[in-house]
Amino acid sequence: MDFDSILRKIKPTQKDKEKVENLSNKIIKQLNTIIKDEKIDSEAVLLGSIAKDTWLKGKADIDIFLTFSLNTSQEDLKKYGLKIGHKCIDNLKGKCEERYASHPYVTGFIGGYSIDIVPCYKINDGDQIKSAVDRTLLHTKYIKKNISKKQTDEVLLLKKFMESIETYGSESKVGGFAGYLCELLILKYDTFCAVLKAASKWKKHTIIDLENYGTGKQFNDPLIVIDPVDKNRNVAASLSLQKMAEFMAASRNFIKEPKLEYFEKTEKFTELKDIITLFNIKSTETYVVSFKPPKIPEDTIYPQLRKTERSLASKLTKEGFIIFKTSSWTDSENLAIILIEVASKNISGYKNYTGPRIWDENHQEKFILKHNTIPWIEGEYWLVKVSTTDNIEELIKNLFKPENIHYLKVGKNIKNQLLNEYSIMEIKEFLSNNQLSIDLLEFLSDFLIPGKNLFR
Ligand code: UTP
Ligand code: MN
Repeated sequence: MDFDSILRKIKPTQKDKEKVENLSNKIIKQLNTIIKDEKIDSEAVLLGSIAKDTWLKGKADIDIFLTFSLNTSQEDLKKYGLKIGHKCIDNLKGKCEERYASHPYVTGFIGGYSIDIVPCYKINDGDQIKSAVDRTLLHTKYIKKNISKKQTDEVLLLKKFMESIETYGSESKVGGFAGYLCELLILKYDTFCAVLKAASKWKKHTIIDLENYGTGKQFNDPLIVIDPVDKNRNVAASLSLQKMAEFMAASRNFIKEPKLEYFEKTEKFTELKDIITLFNIKSTETYVVSFKPPKIPEDTIYPQLRKTERSLASKLTKEGFIIFKTSSWTDSENLAIILIEVASKNISGYKNYTGPRIWDENHQEKFILKHNTIPWIEGEYWLVKVSTTDNIEELIKNLFKPENIHYLKVGKNIKNQLLNEYSIMEIKEFLSNNQLSIDLLEFLSDFLIPGKNLFR
């Protein structure tokens, strides 16, 4: 495989680097001037993949951290962090946005680049950590100290491969591999190919412990990569089992038959008419629960959506529906959806209905009286056979009533929406009723063809 030809495309040129460095230096200088003028005890430093020389061409997000001494209060750190960030981007005539990662920070947009300005505590050791972003300082130091020039190229190949098969990014929307995790994998296995070979043989709960801390056993995650700068942290904590498995599958396929196409994204269906056709030729039925997402960071919404989705799927299965696939998506502003694909929207016939447990005599009496047939016992539970003619829409509407919602495990910030303002409809109705963004169309495309990233 001609990796050099790929590197030529994805590795920033000297000119690219100069451009980013010039802008970074300008911003850091501006930040430090503001810090001095305002007499704040802080310092701006460049961290993340630009500082580590592991960024992909055309994908430069500039990570600048404002370090505060450990005796600064959380309040001051937040207040000054935002103030300095806003002022800097304003002075440089950029656009500004506030984001959130363990505390709020400013993201600026200047000349096509996005610049994160994140306040953190200046720590020298993992034990001193006060907020989740504090480790970044130590991460950058560790990688710069331990990675060779050759290995930074290997990191780029790994990041690009991960990006193309859509397993890159630790944000909860993706649940994939963080940049730092890719770097640690290269430090462990040395080359891109060696990472793929090792990954294709990973077992569940594989432990990677570069500094031999021996602390891996305390974690129960699918992949455990002990943070070299903090022995009690799993760098792969935000990697989902799903994305770990997808990466392993793609690795096996690549090893079997290496192709350049593994470094390019596959095409998705983004035309509404194609999406409609694909849903039409399915012999299943898909329902959409939609509502306005709560005003909380995207990284917080996704876990809540998925929890709700899983719980709904398991309840529907218990009620006798055959569920093929569920998934959820949100733009974090106007629309959140949960998709449920079922074999049939109606079930009829009979089903077992689980009643109270043997230990509860009162409930037993009521249960037996209520059901006009002879119940039986399985283990500690009373059961009874009941006839059923359930319709999925009716059932879901029922579950979203105040007296029934406790049957579900619903994300705490979306409970209100599900009780008050949501709609449920068949996918075709949903598609014709809504303005669909590209991101949503791509999500639907993935829903329709979930395996397309694994093969080329
Ligand atoms: P980034 O997500 O910007 O990662 O987080 P990166 O290493 O710069 O990689 P790319 O090229 O932009 O994608 C910045 C830093 O925050 C820490 C890491 O130290 C990372 O270098 N971080 C971020 C984590 O430790 N874990 C995460 O899940 C995300
Ligand atoms: Mn970055």
